[in-house]
Amino acid sequence: MQDDQLSGKKIILGVTGGIAAYKACRLTRELIKRGAEVKVVMTPSALQFVQPLTFSSLSKNDVVVNIFPDSQLNGASMKTWHIDLALWADLMIIAPCTVNTVAKIAAGFSDNALLTVVSALRSPLLIAPAADMDMYDNKISQKNFQLLEEMGCSFVMAEKGELASGLEGDGRLAGIDKIIDAAEIILSGYNKDLQNKKILITAGPTNEDIDPVRFIGNRSSGKMGYNLAKAAFLRGADVTLISGPVHENIYPEIKLINVRSASDMKLAVHKEIKNNNILIMAAAVADYKPAQIASKKLKKEDKLDQIKLTPTDDILSSLTSAGIKLIGFALETHNEKANALKKLKNKNLDMIVLNSLKDENSGFEYNTNRITVIHKNGKPVVFPLMSKFQAANIIISEILKSNG
Ligand code: CTP
Repeated sequence: MQDDQLSGKKIILGVTGGIAAYKACRLTRELIKRGAEVKVVMTPSALQFVQPLTFSSLSKNDVVVNIFPDSQLNGASMKTWHIDLALWADLMIIAPCTVNTVAKIAAGFSDNALLTVVSALRSPLLIAPAADMDMYDNKISQKNFQLLEEMGCSFVMAEKGELASGLEGDGRLAGIDKIIDAAEIILSGYNKDLQNKKILITAGPTNEDIDPVRFIGNRSSGKMGYNLAKAAFLRGADVTLISGPVHENIYPEIKLINVRSASDMKLAVHKEIKNNNILIMAAAVADYKPAQIASKKLKKEDKLDQIKLTPTDDILSSLTSAGIKLIGFALETHNEKANALKKLKNKNLDMIVLNSLKDENSGFEYNTNRITVIHKNGKPVVFPLMSKFQAANIIISEILKSNG
């Protein structure tokens, strides 16, 4: 399998003084689990919330808190540790980052250990702010976020929710998984290349009801579509996700429309499509549904021996005149390339993503996928086995290429 993009990467994790500092412990753990090397730098106020020992145990590295060494050699130590650390890193993440630290970075301060590293940093900087809502929303904080973004820093903005003060509003540290996804995007060399793009994505299976308790479904887990939605959002797109019944989580900023059947999905796609530039149909839409849905639970005594089926509408085929980029998926078990090419042509798609159930660790339920992208000209591009998040990013880049 293609390497995890975080594996072997050198990451400085800056932790500042907010209650969300405890969440940085899980962030450290997850980064280590993904194979990254992590060195933690804390501000003095962060010590009010978490002890350095926690981070050094999790990261298996010393934690830096002070600019100057505890025991000075007659006041003269030549060690420029902050420069060494800054040069070591592939990426620095500050999570949580208080509005105070954001303001200090924006103003060029370097009056604590974390800020000295930031000032000397050559690698990308990813900031995940957290604060109580009024501190977060105030104009100065917002202006500082904007200023740093314009200067090339990346942000995973805070989320809405219950805050330490008991107030409800913006300011909660973004989810740890989202921060890690954003780090992966940066380390893989992707940027905000989907800014000003509106993308509609479908995911998961559809369930076609037989009676009030039973349905015909398929094994789609929705993982590919959800990863596409996450990758597209982190690359700057405005994302709407239409999802069949699955057990996946999505970022709160993504507009999620839950549907159940193929006809619900068709209605939702037709309603949303006019607001979008690109449609990615990753959903495994049922081709047939029961001709009638029984209003009461079918009983054993009914001696049911067949269910009459009727075809569903093909959603992609109903959209050829929508005037937007149409991307389809083809999950095949045999004659893979020929079947995918047929779908590309018949459904008048701009691109189709093929995966074969014959490939090990690919397709439904797996976290990995081996994809082949076929552009409108019929030319296939074959990719190795990789995580569905990596595959999602590759699919997005291929869509952008097909945009010319
Ligand atoms: N699709 C669709 N509407 C349907 C069925 C499928 O829009 N009723 C879309 C899927 O979301 C996918 C593409 O069409 O992007 C191909 O789906 P797939 O199930 O592989 O192909 P089908 O056309 O259904 O053909 P078959 O099941 O015979 O392989």
